[in-house]
Amino acid sequence: MDIVFASRHDGHPEQWVQALRQALPDDTVRLWDEGGAKGAAQVAVAWAPPPALFAQEPRLEYLFNLGAGVDTLLRMPELPAGLRIVRLEDGGMAAQMAEYALYYLLDEARGFSRYAEQQKQARWHRVSALQREEWPVGVMGAGRIGACVARLFSTLDYPVAVWSRTGRAVEGAEAFGGAEGLPGFLARTRVLVNVLPLTEETRGILCREAFSQLKPDAYLINMARGGHLVESDLLTALEEGRLRGAALDVFSHEPLPASHPFWAHPRIRVTPHVAGVTLMRSTVRQIAGKIRAMARGEAISGIVDRTRQY
Ligand code: OXD
Repeated sequence: MDIVFASRHDGHPEQWVQALRQALPDDTVRLWDEGGAKGAAQVAVAWAPPPALFAQEPRLEYLFNLGAGVDTLLRMPELPAGLRIVRLEDGGMAAQMAEYALYYLLDEARGFSRYAEQQKQARWHRVSALQREEWPVGVMGAGRIGACVARLFSTLDYPVAVWSRTGRAVEGAEAFGGAEGLPGFLARTRVLVNVLPLTEETRGILCREAFSQLKPDAYLINMARGGHLVESDLLTALEEGRLRGAALDVFSHEPLPASHPFWAHPRIRVTPHVAGVTLMRSTVRQIAGKIRAMARGEAISGIVDRTRQY
């Protein structure tokens, strides 16, 4: 197969090309070169692909996205209608995202930042002991990432629920589904963790109305997309004491502008879209496995349903 690698953001494209060549020695793997001649690639491996890719590689049949989210890709006007998109399924991201959520929950529930402050004053003072039943976790998203996050918390004996469009079951968690399941899910949740895909249905789902239905003193962890969150509603909910705080990894404008109020907010923790980083080794293993399966004529998982938008 003729495979082309094209990414606008990755700083080391030649390393990806080399890793793909090693994993697929019988295929041709090349780095896409803007302004080159029309190519014959059937497969693109890409993250935020340059728009010119599609005109220059008119024979593309599959695009393997180097990430789980395909929202930006699906909004590209140049994207050919018949091109099949394959999203990254976990690839090492789910465990990282579960760690991220656990880190911020523990910081809130066990007061580790407070101890760090106390240490500066040589102050020996215990914050109250953790009662897990007081920190019910609600995970929005029941795919591979959501299931991994939910499993981690349920292993640690937190009460866990998941919410998804279809109400898909996840072991160890109570499942809620659809618009009708959302109020019940929010009402039992104190720590709201978002890993949903961004679609027209989920845009703005983290809003005033949702915050007002959560348990009191709730905490928000958003690792999915900035478009899920109505930023002004978060600021109001914090001001009104509806929420105790938030850990945010994603924003509607990235990088987050230096003047944005989130940077200096005492109850908001900001990270630069690092909750789940694409790991080269496991990602290449997954993509190469699927390309080999396709060559054998087998069906592969992770193909994006464009009407569903993920
Ligand atoms: C992804 C991301 O979609 O890194 O995988 O945001």
